[in-house]
Amino acid sequence: MTQPDNFAGHNIHLETERLKLRPFKDADFDTAVPFYRDPEFLTAMEGEPPDEPITSDYLKLAAMVMIKDGFLFAIVEKVSGRTIGEVCLQWMNLERAKIEGEKVMRLPIGIWDKTLWGKGYGKEVVRRLMAHAFEKLGIDRFCPVDVRADNARSKALWQSLGFTVSREVDDGETLDFEITRAAYEKMVQGTP
Ligand SMILES: CC(C)(COP(=O)(O)OP(=O)(O)OC[C@H]1O[C@@H](n2cnc3c(N)ncnc32)[C@H](O)[C@@H]1OP(=O)(O)O)[C@@H](O)C(=O)NCCC(=O)NCCS
Repeated sequence: MTQPDNFAGHNIHLETERLKLRPFKDADFDTAVPFYRDPEFLTAMEGEPPDEPITSDYLKLAAMVMIKDGFLFAIVEKVSGRTIGEVCLQWMNLERAKIEGEKVMRLPIGIWDKTLWGKGYGKEVVRRLMAHAFEKLGIDRFCPVDVRADNARSKALWQSLGFTVSREVDDGETLDFEITRAAYEKMVQGTP
């Protein structure tokens, strides 16, 4: 049974070496707001940021769309117990990235606290969710979409995990990435 403050509506708990992924709670929106008011983080997360300052209600509305077809997690740092970000393992909802007869997922991710960027946390989260998606949900293709071409961190994250660019959108300003099941299995077999 899910907890009353369980916004995500699923009950999946996953773990990595340094992080926990748990269902996103109502209270997590208030934690997220101050980080969304940072222009660099906001631009990375929202293709076209709103003019008004981000509020908890704004984030909640966007998250309601995500949970309709996905599993929204809060990212918790084990050592501090702090909630440090969000990630949604989401069934593909962009027409351009759907493939008939294939199970395809996308993965919006954000580590809220900039001081924690570049420590390998993003990679740890994505690795864990790739394993869950390919091995438990039986997907055919994992496709992070709508990546800004000027977002070096995000591009490096996907490339470091074997994803390749599948599509350039808006004259190359936006990139879609992908990894197929075959490429994922090859990568896992190659891991010592
Ligand atoms: C994008 C994001 C999730 C990446 O997570 P992270 O924890 O910072 O990244 P990691 O430390 O796991 O690094 C992943 C890879 O990127 C590389 N990398 C990290 N920062 C980099 C930078 N500034 N420039 C180039 N490469 C970088 C790392 O070296 C690593 O590659 P490697 O394993 O081959 O060495 C995180 O930075 C973030 O939340 N950014 C703001 C929101 C955002 O951009 N979300 C994605 C929207 S599409």
